[in-house]
Amino acid sequence: MKVSIVGAGNVGASAAWILADRQIADEIVLVDVVEGVPQGKALDILEGMPLSRSNAKLTGTNSYEEIKGSDVVVVTAGIPRKPGMSRDDLLDINSKIIRSIAAQIKEKAPKAVVIVVTNPLDIMTHLMYKELGFDKTKVIGMAGVLDSTRFRCFIAQELDVDVKEVEAMVLGGHGDSMVPLAEHTKVKGKPISEFLDKQDIESLVERTKNGGAEIVKLLKTGSAFYAPGASIAAMIEAMKNDKDEILPCSVMLEGEYGYKGIFLGVPCKLGPEGIKEIVELKLSKEEKELLDKSAEAVRKNTEKI
Ligand code: LAC
Repeated sequence: MKVSIVGAGNVGASAAWILADRQIADEIVLVDVVEGVPQGKALDILEGMPLSRSNAKLTGTNSYEEIKGSDVVVVTAGIPRKPGMSRDDLLDINSKIIRSIAAQIKEKAPKAVVIVVTNPLDIMTHLMYKELGFDKTKVIGMAGVLDSTRFRCFIAQELDVDVKEVEAMVLGGHGDSMVPLAEHTKVKGKPISEFLDKQDIESLVERTKNGGAEIVKLLKTGSAFYAPGASIAAMIEAMKNDKDEILPCSVMLEGEYGYKGIFLGVPCKLGPEGIKEIVELKLSKEEKELLDKSAEAVRKNTEKI
C-alpha cells in the first residue's frame, strides 16, 4: 500500500510514524511546502524502522509528483486553531488550502482514496469532494474515530478497565454538536448505564465533545496530533484489512439517516476502495434529535462555502 500524506506538520508526521511503525503502509510519502521539513521528518522516522522491525519506506518531498500511484492520500494541511477559536473559525483560510491541494490530487493521484483531516472537518471534506469530482465512496473525513477513541479513553480511565473492553461511537459533525452515542456505549459487552449513573455519563460525554479544545488549551500553540495520527492510521488499517470493521467516518449522505447532500459522521465499513457501506444504526429519539442538530450546524457552515 502506498500512502501519501499532504502536510508534514504534527498530525501528518504522527500518522506517518504509526503507519510505518506497524507497517500498515509499505510506502509513505510526506509532502509539504516547507523546504526540508517533510524530508527531515521522513528520514527521522525511517531511521527508527530497524527498531520497529518494519521495512516501510519513507520519503519527504516538496513536490506533488511523488504522490503518483498512491492508494490513499491523507490531507492534514491547514491552519490549526488557537485557544478560544472554534474549528469553524478556520473555514476561510483552510478552504483556500484545500482547493489548491485538490487540484494536485486530481491530476497526480486520480485513483486514490482521499482522507481529509483539515478542520472544520465535515466542510473541508465536502469541499474536497466537490473539487475532486471523485466518487463519493472515495472521499472520507477523519473525525469520528478520533472522537470515539477519546470517549473510550475517558470511560476506561473512569472505570479503570481495559480499553479493549470499551466500545463507543461518536457520530455527527466534528464540532461542538458532535453526538457521543451513550446508548450504544458498552463496557464488557454491557450497557454503560450498568456502570455509571446518568450524570457521570453526561460529564464524560461533555469531556469528549470538548476533547479537542481541552488539548488546544493545554498546548496553547496548536491542536492535538498523537490521537489524530493514530485515528488516521486506524482508518487506513481497516481499509487494508478489509474485515468490515465499523468505524465512524464523515461521508456524503444521500438519504441515509434522513440527510441529503451533506458530509456527516456516521458508522461505515471501509475497504481498499474506500467506503463499502454506510451502516444505519437504530438511534433513540434523543440521539436522533442531537444528530439532527449536528447535521443542521454542518449544513449551515457548508452553505458558507
Ligand atoms: C481535535 C482537532 C484536531 O479534535 O479537531 O483535536
